[in-house]
Amino acid sequence: MSKITAVVLAAGMGTRMKSEMPKVLHTILGKPMLYYVIRAIKGAGIEKILVVAGHKHELVEAAVREDGVEFIIQEPQLGTGHALQAAFPGIEADADYVMVTCGDMPLITSETLKSLIPTGSEKAQVSILYGKPEKPGDMGRILFSERDCIQKIVEVADGGPEIRKVCEVNLGAYCFEFDFLKKYLPRLKPSRVKGEFYLTDLIGLASEDRLGIRGIYCEDPDEAMGINDRIELSRAGDRVRKQALDKLMFSGVTIVDPVSTFIHPDSTVGQDTVIHPFTIIESGCHVGKRCSIGPFCRISGSRIGSNTCITNSVILSSEVGSDSNIGPFAYLRPGTKTADNVKIGDFVEIKNSFIDTGAKVPHLSYVGDSHIGKKVNIGAGTITCNFDGKEKHKTTIEDDAYIGANTNLVAPVTVGKGAKTGAGAVITKDVPPGSLAVGVPAKIKKENIRAGEV
Ligand code: UD1
Ligand code: CA
Repeated sequence: MSKITAVVLAAGMGTRMKSEMPKVLHTILGKPMLYYVIRAIKGAGIEKILVVAGHKHELVEAAVREDGVEFIIQEPQLGTGHALQAAFPGIEADADYVMVTCGDMPLITSETLKSLIPTGSEKAQVSILYGKPEKPGDMGRILFSERDCIQKIVEVADGGPEIRKVCEVNLGAYCFEFDFLKKYLPRLKPSRVKGEFYLTDLIGLASEDRLGIRGIYCEDPDEAMGINDRIELSRAGDRVRKQALDKLMFSGVTIVDPVSTFIHPDSTVGQDTVIHPFTIIESGCHVGKRCSIGPFCRISGSRIGSNTCITNSVILSSEVGSDSNIGPFAYLRPGTKTADNVKIGDFVEIKNSFIDTGAKVPHLSYVGDSHIGKKVNIGAGTITCNFDGKEKHKTTIEDDAYIGANTNLVAPVTVGKGAKTGAGAVITKDVPPGSLAVGVPAKIKKENIRAGEV
């Protein structure tokens, strides 16, 4: 296989977004559009990826740092050709090809990018993706010779009104032979009207010297649409969303109302799970089989077991087991882990806690920094007082304990196995296993109580 470096052009301001944030950081289903471009490049089997950043480059670097790409700073930004010139020293000297894409084309697929790479006997110094979109707008127009060879690309700003009549447009993805770039990239001159160095002028230079230019026709030009404003951003978002939902429905997931459902393409959902309306499943989620999710749920970065029912709830960076019931109106904050057969009911907030098998937190509780044992029942209104104003402390409730309604557990504190607390108790000291604690502050009223006894 050929050795390829990919260059993603992402230094522009994105004036038409009317934003203080760089264009490529505007998100689709919670991820910056640049993330989707990088994902497509990786999917095409290319590992060496250079991102050209410029305008607010520190924000761009922070947003995609974990994606393992390298950054090149283009300062000032003098056009797409200038951006590639800036990236050139970062390209490995023994690369065969250089793939160039724009950071503002989040719908591009790995398959399309792969088709730009010449294989076998296909020899070409330049390969370029083009198409015939319904609304070509200001995209660069491709001019062909009488013998159907690509001759040059003319930007609308430089071509006059006649140029708009050309239907074939440059979609903004290219594959250049490395040796070609080495020789021709320094030859770019500033454009007449805008004074920018156009990457697209390389095509004209290749044609003048009768070099090989492959035009790769993209059947679905929307796939390569460049996002220039927020209307295009929402159109692209809609497409990513629909594609992800279609894939899930084909794989055996019921989506009751695709119009109001958002599921990130990174997330997986198991067979026979039903997703009810107004549900958002963000990036990094794994939902098991036969679950019922929604209506009105937001789940992000979380793992959900099988046969679990979640309604009207928010779950962030958490793990929920199988055969469980969550909600309505539960809020599981980062670091929550629940085992199987658990019930987390209405108006319950849980943070950084482990809830073991068969435990129930049915109503109106706050559980933070806690370990809740097997089959524990937490009465309505129970609060773990985990914060003393300076530090967070842990609450442990051992297996089979029964916490009376409105108990306050002043951490650090442990309620022993099988112990009980009376309604309204304020627990400031450990409750030994098998005993009953009541009052404010609670006192041990009885030791060695039997199951069912109060
Ligand atoms: C460009 C092409 C046009 C094509 C269109 C496809 C040129 C001259 N024109 O036009 O033929 O139809 O894309 O969407 O290439 N960028 C930099 N540094 C710069 C300028 C731009 O990194 O100095 C980046 C931008 O961040 C963006 C990409 O290059 O991701 C394209 O720039 P943009 O200004 O959007 O180019 P278009 O006018 O759309
Ligand atoms: Ca563009």
